[in-house]
Amino acid sequence: MNKKYLITGGAGFIGSRLVHYLKNKNYKIYIIDDLSTGQRNNIKNLPKNVTFIKGDCSNPKILDKIKKIKFDTIFHLAGQSSGEISFDSPTNDLNRNLLSTVKLAEFSIKNKVRKFIYASSMSVYGNLNDKDSLANEKSECNPLSFYGISKLSSERYLKTFSKLGLNTTILRFFNVYGPNQNLKNLRQGMISIYLAQLLKSNKVIIKGSLKRFRDFIFIDDVVKILFLSSIKKNTKNKTYNISTGNKTTVKKIISLISEITKKKLIIKLSKSTPGDQFGIYAKPYLIKKDLKIKKFVSLKDGIKKMIQSIEYD
Ligand SMILES: NC(=O)c1ccc[n+]([C@@H]2O[C@H](COP(=O)([O-])OP(=O)(O)OC[C@H]3O[C@@H](n4cnc5c(N)ncnc54)[C@H](O)[C@@H]3O)[C@@H](O)[C@H]2O)c1
Repeated sequence: MNKKYLITGGAGFIGSRLVHYLKNKNYKIYIIDDLSTGQRNNIKNLPKNVTFIKGDCSNPKILDKIKKIKFDTIFHLAGQSSGEISFDSPTNDLNRNLLSTVKLAEFSIKNKVRKFIYASSMSVYGNLNDKDSLANEKSECNPLSFYGISKLSSERYLKTFSKLGLNTTILRFFNVYGPNQNLKNLRQGMISIYLAQLLKSNKVIIKGSLKRFRDFIFIDDVVKILFLSSIKKNTKNKTYNISTGNKTTVKKIISLISEITKKKLIIKLSKSTPGDQFGIYAKPYLIKKDLKIKKFVSLKDGIKKMIQSIEYD
């Protein structure tokens, strides 16, 4: 029998890439997405083995539509994905991130779903005490945004659900970037925000210091990791940092973009956003060990691929 997968948030940036990665592999794929930030365009022209259900994945009526399906894995990617936006409405963030996770975990226990993969975030850490800001999976978590809190709470609910028998894997994504990232949303992402501005002019507004740093990981590496996490048995009830181990400052990204686009950029600094972490990165020891990941797409190649995909659009 073909495996059945549910991808919540499957019309979003990461979810849609996962759908395209899995669509030709002889699986049955269900997508639930309410299109709050996702786009129908991201999942157009899909083969017959992919079913799209428009709606909120925490809504019992929506979950009723899939209650008879025996899912192998649920990839729970749906959510409000911006720290900055979580300050506009903590309630919206709570519903989209925490409530949806709890409802889907209940559904999974009831319907004997084999595996539950959760898209968490490096935001759970906040600013680390470590002087180099190098995170590992055991680092203390002190989230600074409502977003980070709802992600960490979701993780903690899932830990308790795992004691009830749910096989969970928590993936703490660092900064994911790549083709199809929403360039209209100037409040989520970093590389996408700078590129979006550059498409219009050579001026870039940067919120916060140029010395801030992040660990950027290309979308195709993330999609591969999502899939491997679902099939490898050693991921059971574990938490992973999804990062490359490379610390990149905002200044460095800007100079890379300038070099690739051959544009001389004019930078305007503005004040930082609420709940912003100054800097964080993580060595990918655990994913390399358990998933046998050997190498990652380099930042330069990744940015080039992203720019090429925009030019073809
Ligand atoms: N992109 C990153 O760098 C990054 C980093 C850390 C964590 N994450 C997490 O990964 C996941 C995917 O992120 P993304 O970058 O693709 O964001 P995205 O906004 O592009 O995708 C999220 C998708 O979820 C959908 N959605 C939101 N609430 C929903 C609900 N209640 N029911 C059904 N659909 C709903 C949206 O319409 C959208 O399609 C999110 O949970 C995000 O928090 C992303």
